[in-house]
Order: sequence, then structure tokens, then C-alpha cells
Amino acid sequence: MLSGSQTPDSSLVEVSLDNRSYRIEIGTDSIGEFCQSILSALGDMSHAMVISDEAVETRWAMPIASSIAKAKTDSGDEVRVNLISIPSGETSKSFEQLDKLWQWMLESSCDRRSVVIAIGGGVIGDLAGFAAATFTRGIRFVQVPTTLLAMVDSSVGGKTGINLPTAKNMVGAFWQPSLVCIDTAILSTLPDRDFRSGLGEVVKYGVIDDAEFFHWLENNASALADRDDDAVRYAVAKSCQSKASVVGEDERETTGRRAILNYGHTFAHAIEATAGYGNVLHGEAVAIGMQMAASLAIELKLCEPDLLDRQTKLLKACGLPTTFAAADPQAMLPVMRRDKKVSHGNLRFVLPERIGSVLLLGDIQESGVINAINACKA
Ligand code: GLY
Repeated sequence: MLSGSQTPDSSLVEVSLDNRSYRIEIGTDSIGEFCQSILSALGDMSHAMVISDEAVETRWAMPIASSIAKAKTDSGDEVRVNLISIPSGETSKSFEQLDKLWQWMLESSCDRRSVVIAIGGGVIGDLAGFAAATFTRGIRFVQVPTTLLAMVDSSVGGKTGINLPTAKNMVGAFWQPSLVCIDTAILSTLPDRDFRSGLGEVVKYGVIDDAEFFHWLENNASALADRDDDAVRYAVAKSCQSKASVVGEDERETTGRRAILNYGHTFAHAIEATAGYGNVLHGEAVAIGMQMAASLAIELKLCEPDLLDRQTKLLKACGLPTTFAAADPQAMLPVMRRDKKVSHGNLRFVLPERIGSVLLLGDIQESGVINAINACKA
């Protein structure tokens, strides 16, 4: 039994962006319904180009592809379906993989009524979304995220792109999906550590935007960590609602509003880079990064120490790390100075003032940053 849950309508979230608006449909064991939703939302789709992560091809992408192939559009037409799988891992977010996808799309006679269906985690969503954004100057795409991290963050909001050899996410486009289909049953094949990593981003929404949700998380962390269906669906829907409202206010990250989604991320990117990509998972790095950001906020007297205590307790209850023994400020600082959020050489951070509210602050002294990093060494 979930504590404090009003069993909300956690099945539908709208992202309001004028003529780029779309729906996020959330369910459990809903793949059949989603195929129908895809066909209704994209009424004139003649051709589905399914781009999947190799790890989920057999279990999830093939059944989705064959359901679409068997279904008919509103006008009774059949949909041609092609499927390609991409090796798992961040190294696939590369120009080489993008080029392979463009060639495949060309050979598969992709045209303007073709729709890319991205089935995978953040890597597939970003790569397939960018292929969709660029092929014939842009075709429609649907996100079917298969990791918790992608369900609550990367599949929503239209950031697509690839990495350069020395810079993550450096080339890309804002290209909104036409629909996001989230089936939490897909998480059954996600390893436990990856699931917990996704909870790092979920906790983030409570701190940056929604004190009530943070409180709900405090009461339901163990149900979530145990992957209780209702708890997971509710947490995914609340996270998507927060992200949708922030993106609706600042789609292209120009006003500073969307930047709040990066709470903990400047520290996190530096942790990931200095620990070696893959050694610390993204959501784990975000958890530690949020601890560093909260420590910095306390040092700057922006918030009370109680905020850090509550955040620490919640992250621990979700099975996430809250310290990083190998944190090395001298190695992390140069990475942080290269962060896309740096403005005219000044370090900028998203810092909490209370649970549910954060500020974007520039001109932060390096000494404070070093103290915050050191405060989170085990
Ligand atoms: N993950 C941050 C954003 O979508 O803006």
C-alpha cells in the first residue's frame, strides 16, 4: 500500500509546446495499446523505422515492430516496418553510428511519412532522435524509453544529439518527439543498479520543483526501491509532469528555467569524467552531485543544513551513493570549467534554497566549490 498516494491519473502527461505539443502515455504491460496510440497519433504514417538498443531487441523491439506491422492505419493501410539495432553504450552516440543510420534510412526508402521509433535508453533516444531531426531536414519520431533514466528524463523534452570524441552532447538539435510511450513493465529486464541510478533523477524533481513529491518519495522510497508497480508509475508520471512543465516554459534553455533540470549535474559530469565513464552510473553521479550542490548551498547560506539531511536520507533509502571517496577537486574543476553551463568563464550552479525550489547562481568562488567536493568524500 502506497503511503500518501492519491492514486493520481498517472497514465497521461501533456507537453505543451504550441504546434510541437505531444503526449506522454504511461502504463504497465501496455505495449499493444501503445502500438495503437502510435498509429492514431501519427495517422498518415506509412513506414516505421524502429531503432533499438541491441540489449532490448529480442525482448521488446521485435514484438513492438511486429505489432505495428500487423496493425492498420486509420485509413486501413498497412505500415512498412524496418528494424535496426545499435550496440549498447555511450560510445554508440557517435558520428559513425549516426552516419550508419542515415545510410540505412536511405536504403530503406525512408521518406517524409516515415516515423522513427526509438526503443532504448538515453543513448538510443538521443542518437535516433538526432537521425530523425536531420534526415530530409526532419521526420517525426516516437520515444519508447526502456530505462528508468530515459523514462523520467532523456525521452522527454526534445534534446537529441551525439558526442564528439572529447565532448559529450556537443552536436545536436532540439527535436521534439510526436509521442512518448512509457511501459513500466519494460523495467523488469533492467538491472537493479541501473534502476536505482534512475531514481537519482526522480529525487532531483522533488528537490528542484515539487516539495510535496519529495515528501511522497520520503514515505514511499522502499516501495520504489522494491519496484512496486504503482509506486514506479506514480514516480515516473510525477517526474514527467515536472519535466514537461519546465520544458513548456523554456524549451530551448534560454531563460534559465530549463537549466534547473541540471541540479547536481555540473558536479556529476565532472565525477563521471574523472572516474572514467561507466564506472559511476549517471544517476549515481547525479546523486553525489546533488549532495555537493546542497553542501555548497549550505556554505553560501542559501539553505538550512536540514535540506542536506533529508536529501541524504532519501538518496540512501533509494539505494544511491551519497559520497564519493575518490573525489578530486583538482581533477574535477577543469572539467567543470568546460561545462556548457559556464558563462563567460564563471562557474554557475543550480543550488537549492529549500526543498522544491532552486536558483541558478553565477560567480561562485572556486574555494566554495572545493569545500563542497571535499565535504562529500566518504
Ligand atoms: N536533461 C536536462 C534537459 O533535458 O534539459
